[in-house]
Amino acid sequence: HHRICWHAGSWKKLVEVLSILSGKPAEGQIPLDVCSTCHANATCDDKSDGSGKVCNCKYGFVGNGRTFCQDKDECQIGANKICGLHTTCHNTYGSYYCTCLAGYSPSNNMAVFIPNDGTHCQDIDECRITGQCGEGAQCRNLNGSFDCSCQVGYKIHNGVEPFHPLRDKASCKEVDCGSPPAFPHSHLLWNKNTKMGTKVVYQCNSGYHNVGKGNVSICTAGGQWARPSMLCQEILCGSPPVIEFTEQAWSNNSTPGSTVLYFCKEGFYNNGGNNVSICQENGQWTPPTLSCQGNQAADCFHIQLKWMIAEFSHLANCCGKTLWLECSLNPTKCIFSPTEIKPSIHHLLIFNESCLRWKAEKYEEDTEVYKVTYTGSRDYQRYFYDKRKKFLSSKADRLELCLSLLPVTNYSIAVTATSARFTATITISTSLPVVYYREFDTPLPVLSLWRSPNTLDPISLYQVFVLPGEGIMMFNCSCPAKATPTSKVNSPAEYITAQFDVHYVGTEMNFTIGDGLLYGGFYNAPLESGKNYYIILRTVSQWKTVSVAILW
Ligand SMILES: *[C@@H]1O[C@H](CO)[C@@H](O)[C@H](O)[C@H]1NC(C)=O
Ligand SMILES: *[C@@H]1O[C@H](CO)[C@@H](O)[C@H](O)[C@H]1NC(C)=O
Ligand SMILES: *[C@@H]1O[C@H](CO)[C@@H](O)[C@H](O)[C@H]1NC(C)=O
Ligand SMILES: *[C@@H]1O[C@H](CO)[C@@H](O)[C@H](O)[C@H]1NC(C)=O
Repeated sequence: HHRICWHAGSWKKLVEVLSILSGKPAEGQIPLDVCSTCHANATCDDKSDGSGKVCNCKYGFVGNGRTFCQDKDECQIGANKICGLHTTCHNTYGSYYCTCLAGYSPSNNMAVFIPNDGTHCQDIDECRITGQCGEGAQCRNLNGSFDCSCQVGYKIHNGVEPFHPLRDKASCKEVDCGSPPAFPHSHLLWNKNTKMGTKVVYQCNSGYHNVGKGNVSICTAGGQWARPSMLCQEILCGSPPVIEFTEQAWSNNSTPGSTVLYFCKEGFYNNGGNNVSICQENGQWTPPTLSCQGNQAADCFHIQLKWMIAEFSHLANCCGKTLWLECSLNPTKCIFSPTEIKPSIHHLLIFNESCLRWKAEKYEEDTEVYKVTYTGSRDYQRYFYDKRKKFLSSKADRLELCLSLLPVTNYSIAVTATSARFTATITISTSLPVVYYREFDTPLPVLSLWRSPNTLDPISLYQVFVLPGEGIMMFNCSCPAKATPTSKVNSPAEYITAQFDVHYVGTEMNFTIGDGLLYGGFYNAPLESGKNYYIILRTVSQWKTVSVAILW
């Protein structure tokens, strides 16, 4: 029923088609060429029983060898199984190959491998390469990777630790604490460094001390200054110590340098000891040692008076004169009233070079005993020291006392009214040794020299100069000429007529000028009558190599 049309060439083809459809070679025809029907990805092989040919899919393909040969995906088994750990499996037509995961490298050092030769993937130590993590960071190798963390003195920036330099933005920055904190009333001792571990020491300002704990701030790993619990407080000594039977004069100021004066309470007298306490830098008052005793009302008078004077010295200044405060005595009490009074000794002065005069202010008719202590010293005689005492008892209001003071000496004289316990002092510089010159009714002038019997007298030599009475206004006393017996007529205008050693003078000596004798190698040339002369006496003091001359 089919209308089959063909032409001669198509016949063979038709037989083949039929044969394929029936599954057996067409009878009586040329046997089917199996090999020509093999799939492109198949090979044509001999049958094992030798009965013909067969199509087999190539290695790596599965299928019937003729109509279909499909790629067998080895990688489907799993990369771990087929390629090993830390690998990626790559399928190819008919085959596969392996590569290592990032962070691993193949043991054969090739880019790809097939594990059948024992090649496997091993971890790469990224930390072998320095600088992986950047400045201030340290590298840690991990299986297939690495990570970074900051070294001591560095701090994570833009992220957290550990970090990966490629994956994260994080990096390590050097710790910088910035300016250290400030504490009130203190200053820093600091090298201006703000790196980790830097120390800053705080010192309290003068007048302050640290009552908190610690005085050091350290820049920590966190970039913060670890603060000490520093607290500079003003140094205060608090209330001054209390002493029995005393009162205090105190400004209520207890900063270092503040002072407290102690004085005996009314009815008590000062028995000695230190009456001042000073607030020190360590916050302690220096211990006062004033001791006060009762029942001697009169004795407290001057002690307290002195204290009052010290304390109210500003009052005294404002009046432009010394203001004394009266203490009216009552048998049991000292009462101060602010009227002006005078001290027990006043108007102390020196007259006649060696006599003292003063006025006494007494509040009782009793006799007062005055003690006069005088101490002499000389700049030019270091070993010289003249200390003596004199007592005088008197009821008088005006007193005088002469002292045997030595010449050319500085004296410090203290007059103490012993019962009033008041001392007044005065200093005096005594002048030159006493030299008397007397004129006698004789043809020639006579000099009478008198010397203190005290061996402390500083005179070494006496020289007598003769100068003409007219014409000369100045002369050189350092090297005057000598007169000689042969030049009687023409004596030099000015000359030394005599020189005496101090031993020669003794305590008193009369010397006649112009007697024609030799004195100390100098010719005492006769004076011409009718002429005027200046006679000059020079006393010379010598100590060590220095000599000082005084002209009379
Ligand atoms: C046979 O395999 C190759 C790769 O080896 C492929 O390119 C080709 O397409 C395959 N042929 C067929 C007919 O599937
Ligand atoms: C800091 O404190 C210590 C211990 O208390 C002390 O020895 C040191 O003198 C103090 N330093 C300064 C600068 O005050
Ligand atoms: C006395 O003291 C004054 C002042 O200090 C001094 O210049 C003088 O030389 C002293 N005189 C004597 C003799 O020490
Ligand atoms: C010095 O002269 C006077 C008056 O003539 C006389 O009184 C005195 O004794 C004389 N002194 C000596 C030491 O000669």
